[in-house]
Amino acid sequence: MTDTLTPVLTRNWGQPRSWVLDEYRAQGGYEGLKKALTMTPTEVMNEVKDANLRGRGGAGFPTGMKWSFVPQDNPNPKYLVVNGDESEPGTCKDIPLLMASPHTLVEGVIISSYAINAHTAFIYIRGEVVHPIRRVRKAVQEAYDAGLLGKDILGSGYDLDVIVHSGAGAYICGEETALLNSLEGLRGQPRLRPPFPAVAGLYASPTVVNNVESISTVPSILAYGKDWFTSMGTEKSKGFTIYSLSGHVAHPGQYEAPMGITMRELIDLAGGIREGHQLKFFTPGGSSTPILTPDALDTVMDFEGLAAAGTMLGTKAMQIFDETTSIVRTTRRWVEFYKHESCGKCTPCREGTWWLAQLLARFEEGTAHEGDVDKLLSVCDDITGKSFCTLAEGAVACVTSAVRNFREEFEVGYHTPAWEYLPYAKSALFPVAQDDLEVRA
Ligand SMILES: Cc1cc2nc3c(=O)[nH]c(=O)nc-3n(C[C@H](O)[C@H](O)[C@H](O)COP(=O)(O)O)c2cc1C
Ligand code: SF4
Repeated sequence: MTDTLTPVLTRNWGQPRSWVLDEYRAQGGYEGLKKALTMTPTEVMNEVKDANLRGRGGAGFPTGMKWSFVPQDNPNPKYLVVNGDESEPGTCKDIPLLMASPHTLVEGVIISSYAINAHTAFIYIRGEVVHPIRRVRKAVQEAYDAGLLGKDILGSGYDLDVIVHSGAGAYICGEETALLNSLEGLRGQPRLRPPFPAVAGLYASPTVVNNVESISTVPSILAYGKDWFTSMGTEKSKGFTIYSLSGHVAHPGQYEAPMGITMRELIDLAGGIREGHQLKFFTPGGSSTPILTPDALDTVMDFEGLAAAGTMLGTKAMQIFDETTSIVRTTRRWVEFYKHESCGKCTPCREGTWWLAQLLARFEEGTAHEGDVDKLLSVCDDITGKSFCTLAEGAVACVTSAVRNFREEFEVGYHTPAWEYLPYAKSALFPVAQDDLEVRA
């Protein structure tokens, strides 16, 4: 078994009351901020740039470079917006981080806002997660009371206000421009780009949008330095990150490890596939990333390794499925999600995800017609590259990669319901009533 865990973000999660300011400070918290405040904003930005931190929200864009796009000569206020909407199926790293160590984020917000000369920052959190929202609000209040927020932070002359905003529970509000619309009180739908948020974002002012994990990684870079950060990871994907493993492994959970660990090592860390079973397929980075099969187990889990394997690192959310799982049922569940979450702004996604869901229902029920597999792929072709944002690309990716790897199992749907071909009770992780396992359209 590998022992390549690198607990930095997760280091204090096991401590009693890890979310409280005193406990966070006892673990070395706010040391990165103290150091940052002895530097100029440009020096802080360069430290993060040189560390080559890449965004942990899915696309992997270099964080320091994004900050440098903020036009400092623009007279409007600059804003930092933290994206805590985390809704991608399988993705579950930001919410536990907010729950266990909200001060890591608050410290990261102060340092990052300082670097871009922002005096107001927003933390946008998905509305359903009431408890983490309370934790973050409390942490922000504690930071104000301790002079870490508000006027003249730690006597540095720097002022910052932080607003914690809860969303109303829409996956599309994780897309950065839809999130900005939502913050402004508008309907949560993506905006046309350009202009990019760094130039004209919130209230048409320069805005940096970063993921919770990206911003939470900043304090450690300041505290320990860019050389320490770049000593971990691979050539182009530096540092450590939180990988979330769920599904048919012995010990599902969050595993913080260097960029570039392999899937096989991660499954080892999670105690292996549940006893008596074998891996069938997995998502490397949430349901929007094309699935992989066991022959890809030694793929390096970084941005480049997964791109070379025809998929993406995404949010590093590995959903792991053993041989008892119906790929047809799984794909239908994912597509139902995308159909429900489609914001309706553009026709290929609004209509296409409904068509995909209808076709997949026929496959699951065993009533698909000969040729429906090609029809499924044809609908995917009508959506891909023709939609306004990448929500639709995610819906298509899970279908096309499922068909590419398991076409024969879809063809079983021409005559046999998926629940007869692979009885659902066998893949259930917990005892489930038989009624819940039989699927109705
Ligand atoms: C449909 C959709 C949902 C998204 N959801 C999230 C999310 O919940 N959290 C997140 O950080 N990024 C999400 N993103 C990516 C954001 O648009 C953006 O790239 C990210 O917040 C940038 O942060 P980073 O550079 O720190 O990774 C989503 C993108 C799309 C298209
Ligand atoms: S692709 Fe889907 S989610 Fe994105 S704008 Fe179009 S309808 Fe909305």
